[in-house]
Amino acid sequence: MDWVLQDPIHGYYGSGQVVFGVRGDFVTASSLGPTLPRLLLPQLLQCLDVLATTTSEDLALVEWGPGDGELSRELGVLLAQERPQWQQRLQLLLVETSPLLQKRQAHHLQQQPLPWRHCSPATLASAPVHGVLMANELLDALPVERFTRGDDGWHWQWVSCSSGHLAWQLGPLLPPEVLHLLEAVGVQLAQDAFAQGWSSEIALSHGQWCKAAAAALQRGWVWCMDYGHSAQRYYSPQRGDGTLMAYGGQQAMGSPFCRPGQMDITAHICTDLVRHWAEAAGLHTCGEVSQGQGLLALGLAKQLGQLSQRDGPPLAQRLARREALLRLVDPAGLGGFRWLFFRRGIHDPGPGGLVALGEPATAEG
Ligand SMILES: C[S@@+](CC[C@H](N)C(=O)[O-])C[C@H]1O[C@@H](n2cnc3c(N)ncnc32)[C@H](O)[C@@H]1O
Repeated sequence: MDWVLQDPIHGYYGSGQVVFGVRGDFVTASSLGPTLPRLLLPQLLQCLDVLATTTSEDLALVEWGPGDGELSRELGVLLAQERPQWQQRLQLLLVETSPLLQKRQAHHLQQQPLPWRHCSPATLASAPVHGVLMANELLDALPVERFTRGDDGWHWQWVSCSSGHLAWQLGPLLPPEVLHLLEAVGVQLAQDAFAQGWSSEIALSHGQWCKAAAAALQRGWVWCMDYGHSAQRYYSPQRGDGTLMAYGGQQAMGSPFCRPGQMDITAHICTDLVRHWAEAAGLHTCGEVSQGQGLLALGLAKQLGQLSQRDGPPLAQRLARREALLRLVDPAGLGGFRWLFFRRGIHDPGPGGLVALGEPATAEG
């Protein structure tokens, strides 16, 4: 998965052939225009205001896996408008593996007023920031390991290549650490409930990422947004083939082997495992909410209401904005996304928690 996504010549992201949005291979919430950033703004302001009033340090908004860079660009414009006093204090930091996507991001980031730069996880770890770290559909693009139930127990599932054809192949037995990890989030693989041939995946890469994210933050929040399931649903005996999927031309392609390097490959996140790894890395869980509920808490209903005012923009524009808003909350699509919030070095905000989690706002750390 890492090769076919990240190889600089043949990889789908690494070679820069990925096209986001309605005219590309798949739609992400960020590729739907300015609707999402406008809605996310109150949550970012709440967090950054807390930091601005409790430290004299510079502030950062880190976007990890920024795709085309449009979300960061829009947020740069909006944050500069809302808090002009932060012009010299707030910077945008982008973490991206693909040099070709970095170029696209640079093109977009030049169109906003805040200072910005690309940086690596190692640079962030050497100078951790005070800020908010966002990752929208990043974790679902990180490589996963597959495993399956064989006739003599649980095995890794490897990929074989024979005469140019890729196929699953039974690998060695799963090490006990993996079984213990799943047990830690309530999954008992030893149960007879799992039929022979039952397969799924585990993203050990998420554990590494949680460590890198925690190391990047001196004080602040991590906000992950992704397709995901709890461990109970992810590893349910009824879900016999995991969540690994390939996408191209706005369609799910079924087998990840059909056009390697020419389409996206993605797997849902297991929210319980991400939480487990985040906490092990020193992050503290603030809460979890679906994107639909989170956006409603951030004022989506109000924005929808404003679109019906007669003195607003022309009807065609209002209808397009309405469609974008509804698409973001559609429970069968982007609205079913899970938002996970973590904090580090920040006191529990108590009863006035994060706005997106549906609790009253506070400006106190
Ligand atoms: C599915 S895209 C999401 C893009 C964007 N956040 C959006 O919502 O439109 C995944 C992004 O993460 C980047 N990426 C993948 N693995 C990465 C890694 N290990 N570190 C940083 N970026 C990575 C990809 O190149 C791409 O920009």
